[in-house]
Amino acid sequence: MSSLDRLTQHAEARVAQLHETGRHRTLKPTHRMAGARASRAGRDLVSFCDNDYLSLACDERLIDAACEAARRYGVGAGASRLITGNCPLNGILESRLAEIKATESCLVFGSGYLANVGAIPALVGRRDTILMDELSHSCMHAGARLSGAEIRIFEHNNVRHAETLMQDAPGQVLLMTETVFSMDGDVAPLDELAALCERHEAWLMTDDAHGFGMLDQANPALVQMGTLSKSAGAYGGYVCAPAPVIEMLTSRARSLVYTTGLPAPVLAAALAALDIMKAEPERAVQARSNAALFCDLMALPAPESLVVPVIIGDEDRAMAISAALEQEGFLVTAIRPPTVPEGTSRLRITFAAGHSEADVRRLAQALKEVVPA
Ligand SMILES: Cc1ncc(COP(=O)(O)O)c(C=O)c1O
Repeated sequence: MSSLDRLTQHAEARVAQLHETGRHRTLKPTHRMAGARASRAGRDLVSFCDNDYLSLACDERLIDAACEAARRYGVGAGASRLITGNCPLNGILESRLAEIKATESCLVFGSGYLANVGAIPALVGRRDTILMDELSHSCMHAGARLSGAEIRIFEHNNVRHAETLMQDAPGQVLLMTETVFSMDGDVAPLDELAALCERHEAWLMTDDAHGFGMLDQANPALVQMGTLSKSAGAYGGYVCAPAPVIEMLTSRARSLVYTTGLPAPVLAAALAALDIMKAEPERAVQARSNAALFCDLMALPAPESLVVPVIIGDEDRAMAISAALEQEGFLVTAIRPPTVPEGTSRLRITFAAGHSEADVRRLAQALKEVVPA
């Protein structure tokens, strides 16, 4: 058998397995538009499944900033930021983020995923311990595994369990959690976790991917990672931390050192988004009130964030409900294992500034019809 045949056979066997276990996924061409709208297969949809919480990704001001930056700096960074690629917009963005996060310094990465897989192994290594919440995002797990540290998983938001696991933990302890949990929408007990870390000289690191610009709560974590791809509507990741930590990451985070910097248009769009977030706080208020209205209409507990899970359980049923909602004009993707634990397939419904009250009311009505109580 040729190498090509062997490779093809291997891939086909894996794909067949994915079909058998219901885990096969496909990419669906979708045209995203302003006002939380999208078009797919000729159908106009209201999107209730993206993380563009402030509806900035298609905002003309971000688009203009990106176009202008492309004309001024070009569309590619040319190399790693340490070689030739440090576009001046990086520094401006880093200063702004450090100011917003009230930390000494900041380092921008290519994405949130890259920030975690770069920063975590730069902070701890083989002789150390990582304590992480069981619902932490996949890229925190990836970063933890890359570090070689001993990984201990504590029950979701259970500070007492984290403390128990900390007792005999070898080396330096890095405790990691999300501020807002991406699939459940609840928030972490940051003050209690920070106090626990302080008692044990551990370091608290948070992933603020879904809290940035949306949570009013101050963040006591020493290392605050986040992304510019969600509420900021653009792309890229960052780590905010004390200045010596950022200096260390600049030389040690492999996903910064060995990869090309972000394109200038993306940096400019993120900067424009930060201006809008500051100038138009009513966007966050609108998004939050949309989430609250939905929960009220559906008799769900009040939301802690803009992510509202409607747990369906069975994977096929979740997929069928998602398809039925699409027929009604709503983009609400079903989230299945392994992204969420077995038996908890769900509709992960997200709310944005671009949704009108009528959009939210129509979604609640459609959902009641396709998921009878
Ligand atoms: C909690 C969390 N962390 C990190 C990321 C990765 O961020 P990015 O999309 O910028 O790579 C995501 C993205 O889905 C996320 O939900």
